[in-house]
Amino acid sequence: MSKHFLQISNGSPVTDYDRHKNNFYATHPLAVHMLLEKESFSRKLGILEPFAGKGHIGLTLRRLNYSVTMQDKFDYGLHGVQLKDFYDNKPNSIEQDIITNPPYKRGNKKGSTISFVRHILKSAKPDRKIALFLKLSFFETDDRKELFREFPFSIAYVCSKRIPCAKNGNFKAFRETTGTTGIAMMWIVWNKKGFEHSQRIEFITYKGKIETYDYMLPDYKKK
Ligand SMILES: C[S@@+](CC[C@H](N)C(=O)[O-])C[C@H]1O[C@@H](n2cnc3c(N)ncnc32)[C@H](O)[C@@H]1O
Repeated sequence: MSKHFLQISNGSPVTDYDRHKNNFYATHPLAVHMLLEKESFSRKLGILEPFAGKGHIGLTLRRLNYSVTMQDKFDYGLHGVQLKDFYDNKPNSIEQDIITNPPYKRGNKKGSTISFVRHILKSAKPDRKIALFLKLSFFETDDRKELFREFPFSIAYVCSKRIPCAKNGNFKAFRETTGTTGIAMMWIVWNKKGFEHSQRIEFITYKGKIETYDYMLPDYKKK
């Protein structure tokens, strides 16, 4: 059994050697459907997907008739993406609701997951809703405990079955190299208005087996 297999199947971060250089891990579109069964977002303001990758979240939302702005620091050939470093956003400046899966990185320096999450929560305008797809392990560590104290969430939807986030959008390779169906993930939803203190936890799931073919939306490279 390879080291690579062991690390992913434990749901833990893989080694730097194995990591995608820009931390691009695509969300399985089913995760978006699971979120929208529970939550609705502003159709009037639309949605920002600021770490769009190849559009697995953004294009899925568009197909559900949301108006979506997709941005990423790096170009993966996604049609219509705006190239932007998320750190360039100023506090209270983002007009839309936000739905995304931010880059994974441990620690608390610039470029770490917690640093991105904090910047997202600060950059959204008051009254906006933010849903982030995060590893279940985001509940760990004193730094994150402090983040939740500063920005209490409304609800966390814990995926009771694992769901894949595939390096470079390659779900087939994820299945083949890890031998697992996915990673332990959750959606955390914040309502920026007042950052209510409910911090409820609910389980969400999907029926049957998850498809792990290379899920590429047909409008990904449309010119
Ligand atoms: C975990 S992937 C998620 C991709 C996509 N949200 C999805 O769920 O399919 C994180 C994405 O963040 C992008 N990224 C990394 N650093 C960034 C930055 N400073 N500003 C904007 N995007 C960044 C990467 O290129 C990558 O596409």
